[in-house]
Amino acid sequence: MKIDGTTPNAIALAAARLADGDLVAFPTETVYGLGARADDDAAVAKIFAAKGRPIDHPLIVHVADARAATAFVSDLPPAALALMAACWPGPVTLVLPRRAGMANAAAGGHATIALRCPAHPIAEALLKQAHALGVLGVAAPSANRFGRVSPTLAAHVVEEFGDAVWVMDGGACDVGIESAIVDCSRGQPVLLRPGALTAQALSEAAGVTIASPAENATMVDPLKPRVSGSLASHYAPRARVRLMQSKLLQEAVAVMASGGPLVQATTDAPKLAVYSRAAMTVPRGMVHRCMPGEAREAAQELFAVLRELDATGTPLIWVEQPPDDAAWDGVRDRLQRAAHVGP
Ligand code: TXA
Ligand code: MG
Repeated sequence: MKIDGTTPNAIALAAARLADGDLVAFPTETVYGLGARADDDAAVAKIFAAKGRPIDHPLIVHVADARAATAFVSDLPPAALALMAACWPGPVTLVLPRRAGMANAAAGGHATIALRCPAHPIAEALLKQAHALGVLGVAAPSANRFGRVSPTLAAHVVEEFGDAVWVMDGGACDVGIESAIVDCSRGQPVLLRPGALTAQALSEAAGVTIASPAENATMVDPLKPRVSGSLASHYAPRARVRLMQSKLLQEAVAVMASGGPLVQATTDAPKLAVYSRAAMTVPRGMVHRCMPGEAREAAQELFAVLRELDATGTPLIWVEQPPDDAAWDGVRDRLQRAAHVGP
């Protein structure tokens, strides 16, 4: 059920639902989350069931502020404190040593816990009110079924779960891709998942050195919890996604166009959808969307565009490789996972 999330009444109702151990989907600045109180394992179990998510994949716990975060951790290393001071509220999640016995289900039984303080007026008000009702934090993965495209509109959440889930509508998410995840639980901070802010921007803002994803590949202990956002295949539409360099993409489209109509006779659905930065001659029947020139804007619309193209019924979505520079790390990462075939 979708409700206007901007009214004080809606916030009070949603906070009461969370306090009662019920699920509430709510907007954050990154994507919509599917929330349950993190200090109640039975409530958190409802998230895993609704998403179809393996129970050892830990969730992010959302807190009203840095002080609320302390209830969940056994230690706050100086680098984490600096990142909190510089980046919270904001699209940055910190992995920290977990306080024994706290949020077992949300942490998937792991010894660490991922914490984030979102910068969105509805999320902030909800977390504050829920805290006043005794809710220490709200576990909330992206509000989509496991492995699928994350939601950036309330309507996407309804697409995923139907009317079974209570969704606070706060319009389109501003950032559009999930938070950056920085592991602060073992010495030098390591970027586990790129977000809208680059490792360098985070390092500079907080005055700490954060190892980049490339360095991280050699540093990460394979026995540590796996980030589901780090599975090779994730964020995947139904259609087959392929990433191609601009020139190859243009040539492939020309080949497709020369092979007859680009509409499937049996279904009327297009045979091909293309999302490219370069303008191109669009053969009749092919669906085309232009990727914005700025990484920020591309991130903002990415998941909505993938959902839209998927909804045309096309079996193929061809996407032009984003630029190589760091500003595009988050978008490139999500596209690579959407395009990956296999586990
Ligand atoms: O922007 C976001 O972070 C969104 C919004 C709703 O806040 N949330 C989100 O949650 O992306 P989810 O569950 O889709 O992704 C959470 C990621 C997963 O990849 C999970 O494995 C990782 O955080 N994670 C959670 N706890 C962890 C831990 N203790 N160590 C390492 N990774 C962890
Ligand atoms: Mg997710």
